[in-house]
Amino acid sequence: MKKIQKCLFILSVALCFLALLLSGCNGSSAAAGRAGDGALYKNPEASVQERVDDLLARMTLEEKIGQMTQVEKNSINLGDIKTMYIGSILSGGGGCPRPNTPEAWADMVDGFQSQALETRLGIPLIYGVDAVHGHSNVQGAVIFPHNIGLGAAGDSDLVERIGRITAVEMAATGALWNFAPVVAVPQDIRWGRTYEGYSENTDLVSRLGKAYIHGQQNADSSGLGAATTVLATPKHYLADGGTVWGTSQTTVMKKFMIDQGVTQVDEATLRRIHLPPYKAAIEGGAQCIMVSFSSWKDTKMHAHTYLLTDVLKGELGFEGFLISDWKAIDQIPGNYYSDVVTSINAGLDMIMVPYDYVAFIDALTQAVENGDVPMTRIDDAVRRILTVKIKLGLFERPLAVRELLPDVGCEAHRELAREAVRKSLVLLKNNGSTLPLAKDTPLIFVAGQAADDIGIQCGGWTIEWQGKAGAITEGATIVEGIKKLVSGAAAITYDKNGDFRDIANQDGTLITADAGIVVVGELPYAEGVGDQGNLALSAGDVLLIDKMRKRCERVVLIIISGRPLIISDVIGQCDAVVAAWLPGTEGRGVADVLFGDYAFTGKLSFTWPKAMNQIPFDFNSLDEKKVLFPFGYAVE
Ligand code: BGC
Ligand code: BGC
Repeated sequence: MKKIQKCLFILSVALCFLALLLSGCNGSSAAAGRAGDGALYKNPEASVQERVDDLLARMTLEEKIGQMTQVEKNSINLGDIKTMYIGSILSGGGGCPRPNTPEAWADMVDGFQSQALETRLGIPLIYGVDAVHGHSNVQGAVIFPHNIGLGAAGDSDLVERIGRITAVEMAATGALWNFAPVVAVPQDIRWGRTYEGYSENTDLVSRLGKAYIHGQQNADSSGLGAATTVLATPKHYLADGGTVWGTSQTTVMKKFMIDQGVTQVDEATLRRIHLPPYKAAIEGGAQCIMVSFSSWKDTKMHAHTYLLTDVLKGELGFEGFLISDWKAIDQIPGNYYSDVVTSINAGLDMIMVPYDYVAFIDALTQAVENGDVPMTRIDDAVRRILTVKIKLGLFERPLAVRELLPDVGCEAHRELAREAVRKSLVLLKNNGSTLPLAKDTPLIFVAGQAADDIGIQCGGWTIEWQGKAGAITEGATIVEGIKKLVSGAAAITYDKNGDFRDIANQDGTLITADAGIVVVGELPYAEGVGDQGNLALSAGDVLLIDKMRKRCERVVLIIISGRPLIISDVIGQCDAVVAAWLPGTEGRGVADVLFGDYAFTGKLSFTWPKAMNQIPFDFNSLDEKKVLFPFGYAVE
């Protein structure tokens, strides 16, 4: 019931907003006054096709190339939006205004937008973000579990609702373009982006990716154009999850090993494992796809005419536009001019430049003048971009939906995230029904930094590109969630280092806890920075488990990580083991299940190895008996 009321509220806000826009009482009236009042392309009653045709016919080459240019927000000279007709601005990971509040986001995005609306034709720009687990650059936004946890939940309806709520939080800030969902099918968990993927299983990825797109684009109800619809971007096409360890050429902060590397499988395998999520995404209404940094055999994806143009736009009938990845065309062999020519001719429609947009615009202009990029290719690219902008309703609602600002990070949204956390947990071991714990267990020790750290439980792509340990945003840590839930019934004592020396009898003998909860795992990372050849627990974590074993009757191990870790040496010490992935801001969801308010329902969406030398798995010949836990596993 509450949900229905909320929907009605959002709908009425949306309608009021639309009415305001149409009556011209809003900031966009300035734009309406410019190029041809009553111009066909501005008429929401005309068909999308008519509007695009009309607009395209009015545009100069400069204006067209501007639409194909995406600039990082700190690199743009504000005035250049107007003079160079920039079509898109983005926040990279961690790219936020100061202060980092939802209001400041709305001001920032609207500030860029007002420049675009003042151009001759008043074509709105589109603002892009990586809202990959909630609107995750924004302080105070709700942070959902990373996709690996949603893969374990395996619930399309849940994923669709997450897509929807993320869209609402984005629309409040005016960022209407999301570089998500990742529909990679990670084949090697050493990859630093494993957690961004739902699963190693193609069907599961296809199903959840499509559901997320539905949620973001509201495709099931009002379709693109509703006030809180955002543009989703399945990424990274194609086979970013298939690259081979040691083939990466990239260095960002450290040498990448597998991220941005080379996928070497034959075409049949490529089509069987990595292509289906894109088919599903297109069926689900995807209007934009991001191209992968990686290569297939000898060719960079950004130069791959066959895969971009023949397969995706031809065979699969993709009608939306292709966005490059961050500075990715620069990696194509040759000079910058040839990079631009090759990538645009291969089928890229918009380039995430992201810094030196003057160089990009100059190169592409030159290339058209030299006949190296045909005008038909430019028109096709711009037609695709404008079609999406018009379908999205950007011309009618270019600004932040400020009425929704109070909803960013609101309790209802957090409740959804909490549900997602509950459903994402996978019970890997439960000797003697250790779990659920009774809420009135007399004494419980909790240990591990990750038990009381929002930043760690959120992982990468949270407030900062790499994420960061510490109180980086609002939410409840796991130990806070536990304390709230048992509220006085049990005595909960937390010590990060598992030192409970002062919990002793008067004669000095140490008191043993009835249960111990130890939370260990990975510190935040993103992309190739997280490429990791050794997925063993740290020596500190092993020691901590050992300490807890000595002080607690029963030990519950909770793993916070972006992928399965090697736990073979410690699992024998633990009575129960839970994979909690990267749950996000709602640590209460972990407590809900640990103490039995809800049952464990998650199942492994990745095979769990026994030892590092099993990685990468050869899924064609995998012997399930040799792994620690097979795909789909959970204690019944
Ligand atoms: C940006 C990220 C981007 C990365 C690319 C970082 O500086 O913040 O958004 O993905 O660079 O390597
Ligand atoms: C990442 C993309 C991301 C982009 C913008 C790149 O480094 O590969 O996934 O969308 O940066 O932040």
